[in-house]
Amino acid sequence: MAVTLDNIQVELSQTSKINDVDFSNLSFGRVFSDHMFVCDFEDGAWQTPKIMPYQALSLEPSAKIFHYGQSIFEGMKAYRDSENNVFLFRPTDNIKRMNISAKRLAMPEIPEAYFMEGLKELLKIEKDWIPTTEGSALYVRPFMFATGEGFHASPADSYKFIIACAPSGPYFSGKVKVLIEEHYSRSANGGVGFAKAGGNYAGQFYPTQLAKEKGYQQVIWTDDNTHEYIEEAGAMNIFARINDTLLTVPTSDRILDGITRKSILTIAEAEGIKTEVRKIKVAELVEASENGSLKELFGAGTAAVISPISGFGFKGKDYELPVLENTYGALLKKRVTDIQTNQSSDLFGWRIKVC
Ligand code: PLP
Ligand code: COI
Repeated sequence: MAVTLDNIQVELSQTSKINDVDFSNLSFGRVFSDHMFVCDFEDGAWQTPKIMPYQALSLEPSAKIFHYGQSIFEGMKAYRDSENNVFLFRPTDNIKRMNISAKRLAMPEIPEAYFMEGLKELLKIEKDWIPTTEGSALYVRPFMFATGEGFHASPADSYKFIIACAPSGPYFSGKVKVLIEEHYSRSANGGVGFAKAGGNYAGQFYPTQLAKEKGYQQVIWTDDNTHEYIEEAGAMNIFARINDTLLTVPTSDRILDGITRKSILTIAEAEGIKTEVRKIKVAELVEASENGSLKELFGAGTAAVISPISGFGFKGKDYELPVLENTYGALLKKRVTDIQTNQSSDLFGWRIKVC
């Protein structure tokens, strides 16, 4: 079924919470806008999509989300420029990835039109919730989970797809020092690391707590087999600059195919920065840090855009990154956010105008 404005049921909130929000001092993902988009999958089909006031949900204790963790999500941002135009960045890639995740978790795929038209209609209603201050955006969280009931360990027969929004500021505040993980793994070959499955993040919390107790903010995940190769930086893809080459690791079963990652690679190449996509050994980072050729390390993802890493810990030793004036990280962050917020031309056709 083609989804158009006509067949999305819209129930507007009688009151707005917008005046309670301090838009000049936003943290990440802590306040939620007035409305959400909701669509249920029942009897083998997606039902009438709705936009309704943001509200609590009612679920049976036997809903399979609680027992078997069928839950996936996406992370996107909506931007508003000085003329009140609203934009999304490469949204089709998020839709495709959501459906890659859905397939892996044995969940129904969401038709592109439901996702895209639902999101656009929601953003038109929530336009005033999109922050315009530098470093802020409306974080958009599409997610789907199993509402179908039963203790039998098998896929549910009903699901809920929701898009909720949170006006958000920066994901990290201050320096990010990371610990290179030598024992725990985020993902494994044949597993679900390439999907945005909720459980992937739950599995990261405990090792990250341990790292925090040692004074680090994030974990650098290494391969589950040997722990010799770096894979991701917390919930971000990882980049390293060695001399003047920008390196990142290839995506795989274990690594999320990040939209920021691939945008950065394209922009870097257009800027004349030499890039290499290849496996990176922890030993190579340690050696490059010791001989001074490791200039930068940063994480890349929608929430944080680019998050510079100030140093890393490995086998009980700390390695500091140099403090440079002109970093690739800062340049690439500016280039990507200028495209996202309509402050530069969109050479690659990534910016989609919503309204
Ligand atoms: N890696 C993981 C595990 C993530 O959760 C994310 C966040 O979405 C990313 C990488 C970055 O992906 P993207 O740039 O598409 O947000
Ligand atoms: C994002 O970068 O959008 C993510 O989804 C990471 C998330 C865990 C905040």
